[in-house]
Amino acid sequence: MGCGALLATGCLLCLVIAKNPNGIAVAGSSFRRSQQLSCVFETSKAIPPSKELETIRLNARLLLSGTKPEEAQRSRSEDHPQYNIPSFVVEESSVDILQHTHEDIDTLDCRISTYFTTDTQIIWPGREVRGSSSDSWFICTIEHTAEKHRTTAFLMQTPGERESHSQGQPTQEIAQQTHVSAVFLVHTGASAVRSALSKDVLFDCAFSIDHQAAVTVQWILHRKGGLRKLLFIYNGSRKVVEHAADRAEMFLEEIPNGNASLLLRKVGMRDEGTYSCSVSVSSLTWEQTIQLQIEEKPTVFVNADSLSLVEGEQHKLICDMRNFYPLGAQAVWLRELQGSRQVPEVVRNVFSSSHRESSNGTYSFSRYFLLTASLRDNGHVYTCRVEHQSLQTPIRRSIIVKVREGTSLVWLLLVLLGLSVCLAVLLRYLHRVRSTAKHKPY
Ligand SMILES: *[C@@H]1O[C@H](CO)[C@@H](O)[C@H](O)[C@H]1NC(C)=O
Ligand SMILES: *[C@@H]1O[C@H](CO)[C@@H](O)[C@H](O)[C@H]1NC(C)=O
Repeated sequence: MGCGALLATGCLLCLVIAKNPNGIAVAGSSFRRSQQLSCVFETSKAIPPSKELETIRLNARLLLSGTKPEEAQRSRSEDHPQYNIPSFVVEESSVDILQHTHEDIDTLDCRISTYFTTDTQIIWPGREVRGSSSDSWFICTIEHTAEKHRTTAFLMQTPGERESHSQGQPTQEIAQQTHVSAVFLVHTGASAVRSALSKDVLFDCAFSIDHQAAVTVQWILHRKGGLRKLLFIYNGSRKVVEHAADRAEMFLEEIPNGNASLLLRKVGMRDEGTYSCSVSVSSLTWEQTIQLQIEEKPTVFVNADSLSLVEGEQHKLICDMRNFYPLGAQAVWLRELQGSRQVPEVVRNVFSSSHRESSNGTYSFSRYFLLTASLRDNGHVYTCRVEHQSLQTPIRRSIIVKVREGTSLVWLLLVLLGLSVCLAVLLRYLHRVRSTAKHKPY
């Protein structure tokens, strides 16, 4: 029975996995405990008059079982009678589609879709070639909801099992099972990698195939501006590296074990973008992508630790953020009484310098304001709080301000007056001493 018939029933789909004993050992315990994973089955159907393709999504479930599929089906039906419906049974194969999924099922996202090749027949060693390939291949993607990893498997329909089941329940279309076998998968780690400048970055990519095969692995960087850069090509049939960009390496001795990871040395801003790991075997090619984002933490300085000011004195308080990447650092100046538990107030009338870009691509700028010391500033702490995507918690730098009472102008004038009076008296005295000396009679 084809997909159309499955869709016509419009009901839920189930995927039953008949695990091989080795496979179950690596599956996560909660995955194993529940033996099922909710999936979405996606396919497209031609709408009769226009023949336009419409995408159809159905709820589906991925069921894992260490037992025979029939037993899994039975125990499941007892718990959830409504799930006694069409299902895919993934037969035992050397390609374990769960080998990289260790997490709780709640953190896993699963999608299954039909795989079409319009003009080329998929030829797969050791498998029967069928007349129409449109209904014999499926793709199943299991992804971490926080994008920590993604596994995509090609599932091939196995005709024998399918027929036997149809014979078993000829009238009950709703209980139709489609038996499939995983023949090829590609796995990647986190979909986004962050790295500091000049570090070496490992882009994890792995594959698994149900037979000994020559694979070709190709790594391509799609830069943010749309430029495409070929990084690495390993040709498995000739066992040669056909291309290796500067600073890009693969672990050649590990490729036969399914390791297609790429190591890029001393990354810089020009390496930012989307990395695609593409694995080809026979007539199938699958690629998965990983983003690289460079991040540098700002170094933050303020222009003093503490200030001792006289009332009325002006002082520029500067917060300098240096060598961060990418743009987008935010800084606020806060004012609070030392030791107080009150929420600090945000200083207003703060200015920004323009951004300076250094030769390595990092940015620097400062935020400053002019403090006119008043007595109510005494004992206050001015804190510069910096936030940036590279920081888990904001950076804080503080200046403690002491302000003492100013000498008033009137007082200053009085002092000056007093001094001049003294000076006048002194000068007069000196003058008198000199004149008496002049008139000495010898
Ligand atoms: C591939 O091999 C490298 C080097 O041994 C290792 O660091 C990396 O984790 C491996 N990756 C995978 C996906 O197995
Ligand atoms: C970038 O350049 C600046 C000065 O040009 C330097 O202070 C900073 O350490 C450099 N950053 C890195 C990560 O190399």
